[in-house]
Amino acid sequence: MDKPTIAILGGTGPEGAGLALRWGAAGYPIIIGSRDATRAAMTAHELREKVAGSNISGAVNLEAAEQAQIVVLSVPFDGQARILADVATALQGKLLITAVVPLDPQAKRRAPNWPDGPAAVQAQKQLGEGVKVVAAFQNVGAHQLQEPSAEVDCDVLVCGDDRAAKDQVVALAEAGGMRAWDAGPLANALVVEGMTALLININIRYKSKGAGIRITNVNA
Ligand SMILES: NC(=O)c1ccc[n+]([C@@H]2O[C@H](COP(=O)([O-])OP(=O)(O)OC[C@H]3O[C@@H](n4cnc5c(N)ncnc54)[C@H](OP(=O)(O)O)[C@@H]3O)[C@@H](O)[C@H]2O)c1
Repeated sequence: MDKPTIAILGGTGPEGAGLALRWGAAGYPIIIGSRDATRAAMTAHELREKVAGSNISGAVNLEAAEQAQIVVLSVPFDGQARILADVATALQGKLLITAVVPLDPQAKRRAPNWPDGPAAVQAQKQLGEGVKVVAAFQNVGAHQLQEPSAEVDCDVLVCGDDRAAKDQVVALAEAGGMRAWDAGPLANALVVEGMTALLININIRYKSKGAGIRITNVNA
């Protein structure tokens, strides 16, 4: 069966580009989304150079979302509501994977506690039930993704309210060389998003770049 096309909104940034590299290397058609078509095309070109034979193109975010079966949101939290409003119609009936972490730019080391809930839940509320929102990759540092064949030294926690959609994201993470776990309902994204602040603290305290989490003692 043909692999689904994945659009990565904000794929010009390090997190989205890293995911694009890994899925591009695994044979998925990828569309890098950006607010600027030239920037999208340049990033797509750079990624194709890194992964021989890959099918990676670029487009503005709306076109990317329209053309893909699966859409990944990888933009800073303060741009989330606006970009989702722009692409909401194109997302209906699709899977939206969000990697967004709503860190407070003034206090990135403190777990966020937004009154409206975790970013992933806010996305689901905004988009409605016609879009299956799944939270994943919040705890995977972009630098871990940059070499498609290198081991990713952490696990991926996947939260969502639709079992089949989560299974699809777990399979995608595995296709990208990562180990992933169904970590419960979308509301649990509160913990996963907050964990990123905790990992940033550890990185600063121990002068590291690569703090990550592993789930142990589970037979899967
Ligand atoms: N970096 C990491 O290690 C890491 C790890 C886990 C999770 N995350 C989360 O993943 C998301 C992406 O991370 P990143 O480091 O790749 O972010 P980033 O470089 O700051 O931003 C990614 C892209 O988003 C677009 N963008 C920036 N501001 C925007 C706005 N206001 N509205 C719409 N688009 C905007 C830009 O693309 P264009 O200018 O081309 O449109 C930018 O290249 C963030 O929510 C971050 O917290 C990051």
